[in-house]
Amino acid sequence: MTAPLVIAIDGPAASGKGTLARRLADYYHLPHLDTGLTYRAVAHVLIARGWPLDDEAHAVEAARQVDLANLDKHALSAHAVGDAASRVAVISEVRRILVEKQRDFARQAAGAVLDGRDIGTVVCPGADVKLYITASPDVRATRRLRDIEGRGGSADFAEILADIERRDQRDTARSDSPLRPAADAHLLDTSEMSIEAAFRAARAIVDDTLAKRNGA
Ligand code: C5P
Repeated sequence: MTAPLVIAIDGPAASGKGTLARRLADYYHLPHLDTGLTYRAVAHVLIARGWPLDDEAHAVEAARQVDLANLDKHALSAHAVGDAASRVAVISEVRRILVEKQRDFARQAAGAVLDGRDIGTVVCPGADVKLYITASPDVRATRRLRDIEGRGGSADFAEILADIERRDQRDTARSDSPLRPAADAHLLDTSEMSIEAAFRAARAIVDDTLAKRNGA
């Protein structure tokens, strides 16, 4: 039996980490968890019930109910839910509950790919490979705009950019588990890279780790 392979991927909103995580999970035949969905699920419950986003008691209750096997990606993908998620993500008790579930997910026989903001630093500090994906705010806003337009929607570039910068600020400034690269993370700036090139670079890092592990 081969040892489990855990890949931790972190980075700011719209950095391309989600696409990269999915591609790596497919390639290495590993289960994948987008941990952003767990924070979004909590925010979604609060929004649906009309509760304020800083209502800790209800947020904690909603976090306990989060079922990783039943995350409705479609319902959770709305832009407003992402912004709301970054507000509930500052509540330490919510983080503690969700991190526990995320760690359980990472403990599978084959290993797993998890992407988020604190995977390499908090959720899986012992991960075999840690990647920190960045891109300039302008590039990320452009990608998000193309994404929205590709799905038939429309949006304003300046608004998207402002939202990305606001979310960066909230995610890097919070006191509990702020967004930052782990000391042993490989940094990948994808500003000038296609997704294909980023995927190749990430694969090279993972393959190198596997080769070292196998004594090559
Ligand atoms: O990645 P996504 O945009 O879905 O994440 C939504 C929000 O959830 C982030 O802006 C961040 O505040 C929070 N989050 C987090 N820790 C994670 C994943 C997401 O705090 N591991």
